Amino acid sequence: MTDAWKPRKVVIVGAGAVGATFAYALAQSGLPDEIVLRDANHELAMGQVLDLADGQAFFPSVQIREGQVTDYADAHLIVITAGAKQRPGESRLGLLQRNAKIIQSIMDEIVRQNSSAVVLVVSNPVDILTYVAQKRSGWPRGQVIGSGTVLDSARFRYLLSRHCGVDAHNVHAYILGEHGDSELAAWSMTNLAGLPVEQYCAACGKCDDWRASHAKIVEAVRDSAYHIIDYKGATNFAVGLALVRIAAAVLRNQHSVLTVSAVLEGEYGLSGVGLGVPCIVSQKGIERVLEAHLPPDEQSALSKSATVLRDAIASLESSA
Ligand SMILES: NC(=O)c1ccc[n+]([C@@H]2O[C@H](COP(=O)([O-])OP(=O)(O)OC[C@H]3O[C@@H](n4cnc5c(N)ncnc54)[C@H](O)[C@@H]3O)[C@@H](O)[C@H]2O)c1
Repeated sequence: MTDAWKPRKVVIVGAGAVGATFAYALAQSGLPDEIVLRDANHELAMGQVLDLADGQAFFPSVQIREGQVTDYADAHLIVITAGAKQRPGESRLGLLQRNAKIIQSIMDEIVRQNSSAVVLVVSNPVDILTYVAQKRSGWPRGQVIGSGTVLDSARFRYLLSRHCGVDAHNVHAYILGEHGDSELAAWSMTNLAGLPVEQYCAACGKCDDWRASHAKIVEAVRDSAYHIIDYKGATNFAVGLALVRIAAAVLRNQHSVLTVSAVLEGEYGLSGVGLGVPCIVSQKGIERVLEAHLPPDEQSALSKSATVLRDAIASLESSA
């Protein structure tokens, strides 16, 4: 007798700009059989569902509907993009406290449903909220992951590819650490078609000072979200695609190397903190954290990034 067929189901919690754009890209990917949207704003969720479902004739078959907490029970992947917006005069810590409460209550609902899904946290500050979600669930750390620096790494690859005049698919490069100001470029792990970036740039001769160009690229990666938010108020397209990439690794058991946010347990000499490091991502979530031997300057930048995040976690815990 064969096992009963189970639809590949993705539940998206938070149907705002990021959740809806992810749903739109995911529907076109053909990866899931079912996409379920949930939002505290029921009318928003219904509107997004109806709008997306009208596209059924143009993308691979997939059921799209609004969901209930019971939908967590048999989901393969639950993606949390729910979040509060900063109120006038509200501090960063105040916003963090409110978002931590939202994530904790969503995790409680997921756990109560005895779900065995992989949970992917996207809401910001993503590394801290991934840590909060993982601790609250009591689940193995690989099952609760954050989108980490997957988007930042894609921005890095794109900017390097444009600078060097090489297809982004041939650029292997990672941004590590916080998804935010303290993130760092792992130049020691960067290569173009297998050639270490320094070797490639030294031989290329296209720019006068490639070291200065590298510094500018890292700055552009770090500031990218600020510029987009200044122009249009939110970022949604590239992050939606980054989430499809992570979803593919989980739903298709791809064992892809992605810089998701992982709660570290001694890797890189760090623990008690979640941050973006290269991980093998499969149907179980994080199957393995890849521990690269970073040179001292990169290791020190990663440790500093962890300290920034640990301090924020400590202020959150002391204010609870
Ligand atoms: N990690 C990344 O790379 C990345 C990139 C872009 C945005 N983000 C983050 O993603 C989050 C969402 O951004 P957005 O632009 O879609 O915001 P948004 O305001 O458009 O959407 C957030 C949605 O969450 C809903 N919500 C709030 N509390 C909820 C709850 N308890 N249960 C269910 N739904 C709830 C709101 O009703 C709203 O529709 C933000 O925290 C943003 O900073 C992360």
